[in-house]
Order: sequence, then structure tokens, then C-alpha cells
Amino acid sequence: MNGFELLKARKAIRNYANREVEREKIEQLLEAATWAPNDRLREPWSFYVIQGEAKKKYEQLADGYLQERFPTKLTLIESSLKVVKTTPVIIIATADITENEADTKDNEYAVCCAIFSMWLAARELGLGFVWRTRGVGLVHDQRIHDFIGAPANKKVVGTIFLGYPAEGETEAATEKKRTPYQEKTVWL
Ligand SMILES: Cc1cc2nc3c(=O)[nH]c(=O)nc-3n(C[C@H](O)[C@H](O)[C@H](O)COP(=O)(O)O)c2cc1C
Repeated sequence: MNGFELLKARKAIRNYANREVEREKIEQLLEAATWAPNDRLREPWSFYVIQGEAKKKYEQLADGYLQERFPTKLTLIESSLKVVKTTPVIIIATADITENEADTKDNEYAVCCAIFSMWLAARELGLGFVWRTRGVGLVHDQRIHDFIGAPANKKVVGTIFLGYPAEGETEAATEKKRTPYQEKTVWL
């Protein structure tokens, strides 16, 4: 697959096979992240890999969050928790907060690039990947920050759900749709 083909083949994969992800593959993703562009080589990212016992604790965290947020929506709580339980690996990516607001913004952008690098690498390695911010991604909730034990100068940017894709998930990639760039571009 060349670069353009890989870009088109990348897809958000939210359903996973009941199969562990080898540590070596997780490490390949983390290495892909480190090659992302970043201003003045601050390399402003940190990653927290959650699996096994830690993931069980994440499930409890997600449960508490969902019960509080959606106390009357039992079906939603159940389906959201099922997603967490059937996801083999969760990775949290943080960006360094600095005293300079512009640098802090650039750091966040760099972490976005790093997450995207991991997403492409995941496709290359046959892994399913989705970047979650809403719901059980918990990105906008202080609890996730406390859970990973990150210092106050790190901001959670993305929660990555990772696993081998469930059957048929990757093939559906060809059905993706996008607005043609012509409708999004102004040539000055
Ligand atoms: C910053 C960001 C946040 C996202 N948050 C979520 C999320 O909370 N839940 C989810 O299911 N998908 C989430 N996604 C995945 C998008 O929904 C997905 O990329 C979009 O539907 C396009 O599909 P594709 O990635 O297969 O091209 C997020 C993607 C990005 C870039």
C-alpha cells in the first residue's frame, strides 16, 4: 500500500475481535507516534497504555462516569460499557502544557499529529483503532487525568481504543465518503 492508499484505507474501527494485541505491535504504534512533526522538537507527548487489570479499573471509571452523566439511559450505559469491555487496549495521549499559550496549542497539535501517525501505523499493522474524545473516551473529564496519574502540566488530548478488527470491519473502509476538496478550498 502506498501513502495515498494508506490514507484512504485508514478508518475508525470500533469493534474488535476477542484477541490480545501483542506488546510488540503496541510498541510499533508508539514508535510511529514519535516520528510525528512537532514544533522545535519539544516532543510534547506522553502515552499511558491501559490493559489487563488497569483496563478493569478503567471500566469501573467509565461506569461511574456514565451513571452520573446518563442516570436514566440504562441502554446507553450498557452499550457504552460493552464497548470498553470488548476493547483489548486503551491508550491515553497527553500534551505538555507550557507557560506560553501558543506553545501549548502547538503541543496539542503535535499530539494530534502523533495520534494520526499511530492511526496510520495501526492500519498498516492490521489493527483496528479509533480516537475517542466523547463518552467513554472521557477526554473532557478530570477523572481520566487522575486515573492515569499525569502531572498537572499534561493535558489529555485523546483516548485511543485499539484491538484487532472484528470480522468485516476493515473491508467496510471502501464505503467511506468525503466532501470533495473543491468544495472546501479557496484558491487566492
Ligand atoms: C478528535 C477526534 C475525536 C473523535 N472522537 C470520537 C468519539 O468520541 N467516539 C467515536 O466513536 N469516534 C470518534 N472519532 C472518530 C470519528 O468519528 C471518525 O474519524 C469519523 O467518523 C470519520 O470516520 P473515519 O475515521 O473512518 O474516516 C473521533 C475522531 C477525532 C479526529
